[in-house]
Formats: sequence, structure tokens, C-alpha cells
Amino acid sequence: MLKIGKIEIEKAILLAPMEDVTDISFRLVCKELGADLVYTEFVNSEGLVRANVKTHKKLKIIDEEHPVGIQIYGANIESMVGAAKIAEAENPDLIDINAGCWVKNVVGQGAGSALLKDPPYMQELVEAVIKSTKIPVTVKTRLGWDHESIKILEVAKRMEDAGAAALTVHCRTRKMGHKGDAEWEWIPKIKEVVNIPVFLNGNVLNAYDVKKAFDETGADAVMIARGAIGNPWIFLEAKELMQTGKITTVIDEELKIKSCLRHLNLSINVKGEMRAVLEHRKFYSGYLKGLYGASRVRSDLMQYTNYTGVEESLLKYLESLKSYQEESPA
Ligand SMILES: Cc1cc2nc3c(=O)[nH]c(=O)nc-3n(C[C@H](O)[C@H](O)[C@H](O)COP(=O)(O)O)c2cc1C
Repeated sequence: MLKIGKIEIEKAILLAPMEDVTDISFRLVCKELGADLVYTEFVNSEGLVRANVKTHKKLKIIDEEHPVGIQIYGANIESMVGAAKIAEAENPDLIDINAGCWVKNVVGQGAGSALLKDPPYMQELVEAVIKSTKIPVTVKTRLGWDHESIKILEVAKRMEDAGAAALTVHCRTRKMGHKGDAEWEWIPKIKEVVNIPVFLNGNVLNAYDVKKAFDETGADAVMIARGAIGNPWIFLEAKELMQTGKITTVIDEELKIKSCLRHLNLSINVKGEMRAVLEHRKFYSGYLKGLYGASRVRSDLMQYTNYTGVEESLLKYLESLKSYQEESPA
């Protein structure tokens, strides 16, 4: 059971924080399709305390998104405390501390998964952030730096002692990056040593994985990252599967193309037309995956900088797919 502050959700399915992916528009798309809790991408604490305008923009959340978490990262306690206060002013339902990011420039600063190298310091940092804010603080981390130094049981206890409201575990080590099987078997072991909710993350790529993750591990929530990119219906399917035991929703070309346009429309409302259209290019391969002739349409879509061009191209493509099906012998 996910229980954080006033939020209580049975078998909650979460949209993971993802840099350059989980902006307001994508969070809303996933929310509309069933995500129970969504997160901003990670926001640099140093940028926030130095009032960097670009960094500050990443904090923006809107009413329709709640419940929503803002994720912050950094290695310096003072900056993290300052950043948490700035994030709190945006009125999220929780602040999440990133202690799992594996990329070099983040760990090079001692942030993200580098915090796993020094669990007492990680505890001190989390405790200081918790003391500085009135809203719940959660932590997202990994199993350890590498397989020779898995410290997740100690870290989980320390996070509970620090006062964390929940712990998300990406069931890989830092060394694994995003590769290799996520080791879900750690979740029940972690749940044995702490009483705070424990969320499973890693390799949940379709609705069946969501159900399997809950059934096999007893996780309090399941968090999806890459499985939602170009496939936000994963939330819809997973909910249906868990409620009825089967999936009847058909993710056909019409739903795929209409969702792609809905996502772009939401994005335009937030970012303005040109920027939204340009940034949407990275989503076409996901939305159009598996559709006949998708690569040709994708290259066509790359030329547009306005919504009308994209819409016309996609709707024309949808019509061609439909007429192709009508003409094809059964
Ligand atoms: C494009 C991308 C951006 C990411 N950005 C973040 C981030 O900002 N904060 C974070 O905690 N994790 C981030 N992650 C890691 C994911 O949240 C997640 O832990 C990881 O991808 C494992 O889950 P998955 O197997 O479902 O993809 C990112 C992952 C991807 C693919």
C-alpha cells in the first residue's frame, strides 16, 4: 500500500522521474491513462539555490497533475535544504531525493548514486532535507554502487531512521546503469527490514511485468520509466489486468495517433508551439512503433515546426492505415 502523507493508494503504479521526458505534458498524458503518482525529472539543487531560470522552470507543476512529486538532486546539504524549500513553494505532494542517478557528471559531483558510497552522509543529507520541509520526503536509490558493495538493507534502514516517507529502489547497481536484469528479489528483503513503503523500479516494461512485480515481491508500488516512453497506455493496461485478470483494451493505430497528438497539444500549452513540436520528435518512434510504414511517416514528421503540419501528416497516415485494412482480405 502506498501511503505518503494524505495519499493512500492500493497497488499504485507510478511514472518514474525521467530527464527531458517527464515534463508536464507527458505527466498529464500518463495521469489520464491511469498513473497514480507522477514525478518531475530531477532538478539540480545548485541551479535552484543560484536561481538559475532554466532549472527553476523544471519545478513547474499544475493543479491537474496531483499527486505529483518534485525530484531534486545534489551532494551539498546546504544546497539540498535550500532547494527543498524552493521546491516546497511549488506545492508538490512530496519531494523525492535522487540517490540513484548513474551518469558521470552527476556522480562526479558526489550526487545521485555516489551517495551510496557513504550511507551515513546520505542519511545526514536526507535528514536535513526532511527537517527543513513540512511536506513528505521520499528517496529513490539503487541496490548499491556495484555487486561487491550492495548496501541497500543498511541504506533502507538509514532512510527510515532519517524520516523518509517511502523508498523507491531501482533494483540495479550503479555499475549496471540501465542494463541487465533488475533484481526484484531484493524488494521482499528490504521490506523485511523497514516499515516505510517500498516501491519497486527497474525493468517493468509492460502490463504483465507490473502484475508480476506486485505478485512476486509484495512491493507497495511499482514505478515505470522506459516502459512508458511511447507507451503511456501501459498504465491503462496494467490497471485493467490487475482488476479483471485480462487486457481487453486494444491499442490500435487510432489510439496511438490520437494519443500522440493529445500529448503534443498538452505540450504546446506549456512550452509554446515551435518548441513543443521540435521536442515531440523524440516521441514519434515510440507512438508509431509496430505500425505499417511508420519509418516513412517519422521522417516526414521531422520537417514540421508547426502543429498543423504534424496533425495533417498523422491524420493522413491514419486514414491510409484504415483504408489499407479495409482493402486487405480478411
Ligand atoms: C531518459 C531517462 C531519464 C531518466 N532521468 C531520471 C531522473 O531524472 N531521475 C531519476 O531518479 N531517474 C531517472 N532515470 C531512471 C529511471 O527513473 C529508472 O530508475 C530507470 O530507467 C529504471 O527503470 P526502467 O527499467 O523502468 O526504465 C531516467 C531514465 C531514463 C531512461
